[in-house]
Amino acid sequence: MVAVSLVSLDSMDSTESTERTANAVLEPPAASAATQARSLYVETYGCQMNKADSELIVGLLAREGYRVTDRVDRADVILVNTCAIRENAEQRVLGRMSELNRFKTANPDLILGLCGCMSQHLGDRIIERAPYIDLVAGPDSYRRLPDMLRALDAGSEPALSLTWDRAEHYLDIDPVREAGVNGWVTIMRGCDKMCSFCIVPFVRGRERSTPHGEVVRQVERLAAEGYREVTLLGQTVNKYRDGEVDFADLLSRTAEVDGIERIRFTSPHPAHFPDRLIEAMAASPKICPHTHLPLQSGAPETLSRMRRDYTPEVFLDVVRRLRERIPGIALTTDIIVGFCGETEEEFEATREMMRTVRFDSAFMFKYSPRPGTASHKRLADDVPEEVKGRRLTDVIEMQKSISETRNRAYRGKTVNVLVEGRSRRDADKLFGKTDAFKTVVFPEREGIETNMIVPVRVSGSTPFTLFGDVVATA
Ligand code: SAH
Ligand code: F3S
Repeated sequence: MVAVSLVSLDSMDSTESTERTANAVLEPPAASAATQARSLYVETYGCQMNKADSELIVGLLAREGYRVTDRVDRADVILVNTCAIRENAEQRVLGRMSELNRFKTANPDLILGLCGCMSQHLGDRIIERAPYIDLVAGPDSYRRLPDMLRALDAGSEPALSLTWDRAEHYLDIDPVREAGVNGWVTIMRGCDKMCSFCIVPFVRGRERSTPHGEVVRQVERLAAEGYREVTLLGQTVNKYRDGEVDFADLLSRTAEVDGIERIRFTSPHPAHFPDRLIEAMAASPKICPHTHLPLQSGAPETLSRMRRDYTPEVFLDVVRRLRERIPGIALTTDIIVGFCGETEEEFEATREMMRTVRFDSAFMFKYSPRPGTASHKRLADDVPEEVKGRRLTDVIEMQKSISETRNRAYRGKTVNVLVEGRSRRDADKLFGKTDAFKTVVFPEREGIETNMIVPVRVSGSTPFTLFGDVVATA
């Protein structure tokens, strides 16, 4: 047995917090005779897609005989899977790469590699800026990693692979998953939406859907491994299409998999939300009553400059239909403040929309111009930094107060919690999530273990967490 750890540093939340996630103990596949067991350390920044890609990278390299370590100082290969969505995400990674370079003093054979969106975005310029980086691989190039690592071991120059491959789904590679109660399943790669602020289409390439048979196979595999929850991942999951099978069909098919009790997905796009999809969500109790629906802005003019393909009315209509058909559904969102040309009136329209919808929670960001995107090329980043800062603080405060009221309404209710483990803040307590994606903390009790679904009566709350006690079951 070997301890497998994918270190995950989440840069997608509003506070840009640094979070290290769980360890797992997994049986590694047998090392091929030709490869000595080299140790691999993978560090992940950014969204769930990146976490899922890191699990894929580990699956791919484990197959080649690499052993994963959670000790960065013992690694022969360090791969950093990166995010390019905002400039500060890139700055953080550059700082981290220079820190990791220090391990080369003790181990001159150490290979230091950069994977993911930032690799694709910066290309060979990254090696000019950080010449100690040995390997750069974009999101469609992971299949080349074993060859690139072999060439580096043989003494080659820094290796770069940034080709796009529209046919690449990594179908034959079984991810080695991070420990946890939720299994990620990538159902789409890339994005064709081209929102004017967004770098994703430029770094992750064209949109493509994983064949539905493969999605179901992966979900069945997760069920067989004991997972009770899956999250279907893509940049615009509700645009999923494989022949006749659309996203509503895919949800229904995954809901038929025995053993899986909770199905989540992220993120849908507000412009692609037909009643058919809402019906499929409502029809299965396994499909969690939570939708992350990125709003970005509440002003029609800003949405149009953002090329978001919907108006505030269309967004509100999706919210109305979801709430009508799925009572109690939790809605979360993403907001960008200070986008090019955003006036006080436009910003006020975003606040108004947040007050109207009353999201359960939100990720909120200051607009960050990304070279190569339409807004960077054609629109002036003309909202002063201090105005962006003030608007961000403003929406964060407002959302905090909405989340506080929403969570308070859970007091006195009993919710079903999928237990994830021990609370980080309080070792005597356990934590988990409700189907509506609320984090719940409660005192430990004999017989309650990770991966169980237990009823918890909520007695306290903050804007971010519910607190309670397990209700005795007969
Ligand atoms: N397709 C995904 C979006 C991925 S990016 C989805 O719809 O959820 C995640 C979020 O980052 C976006 O929703 C947006 O709010 C934010 N974001 C993307 N580009 C940004 C930029 N240039 N500046 C600030 N925030 C950005
Ligand atoms: Fe980005 Fe818009 Fe696609 S936010 S990921 S271009 S849906």
